Amino acid sequence: MLTPDLTEALDTAWRLLERGAKDRRSPVHTPAIASITPAGLPDQRTMVLRAASREAATLRFHTDARSPKCAALDAGAVHVLAYHPGQSLQLRLSGTAEVITQGPLIEQAWSASTRFARRCYMAQAAPGSPLAAPGSGLPAHVEGQEPNDADLVEARANFALLLVHVGQIDWLHLAHTGHRRAGFNRDAASGAWSGEWRLP
Ligand SMILES: Cc1cc2nc3c(=O)[nH]c(=O)nc-3n(C[C@H](O)[C@H](O)[C@H](O)COP(=O)(O)O)c2cc1C
Repeated sequence: MLTPDLTEALDTAWRLLERGAKDRRSPVHTPAIASITPAGLPDQRTMVLRAASREAATLRFHTDARSPKCAALDAGAVHVLAYHPGQSLQLRLSGTAEVITQGPLIEQAWSASTRFARRCYMAQAAPGSPLAAPGSGLPAHVEGQEPNDADLVEARANFALLLVHVGQIDWLHLAHTGHRRAGFNRDAASGAWSGEWRLP
């Protein structure tokens, strides 16, 4: 059970995340996603938050299935960091990652993306592959051009959804009257959140 003030803090967090997914001007639209490399080192990157669901406690991102982060994250631990300067609120979310390459959810996301967005997945090699000279890795005929549907058929196999199942939220609000920090934990079986105030 959460006290009313903790409920309000958790509500604020999910409201910012849900709004951040829809509003490209929100700083929460581009959080940092952290993983651990096979060598055990921390790694992070900016990603566009495509959807957030408080009900399911998930965050959705789009990425290239061939990228090293997919192998590093799939079915493993993930950490997401967002800061909203206007609200003076930092959110540190941790949970487990799921990389989805098949099924209705991904087909829906693929069809809902513009051809220009889908073009990213036409790169001829995996993200991070060495190049002899600076380049996008895209086939020359779509460089600076909108691809047609035929061009995009093969690209679909490179498209992946990264779903973050949020298990914990560290909530930090900065204020000159006194900072406030809370920690929230989601019970995986019931989906219920518990929380506590913490020293900032
Ligand atoms: C503003 C911004 C938004 C980005 N959005 C995404 C994204 O939605 N998906 C993605 O895979 N990479 C995105 N990137 C690129 C990643 O930060 C990263 O460079 C790339 O995915 C390779 O990461 P990896 O080597 O860890 O796989 C974005 C970069 C920036 C600067």
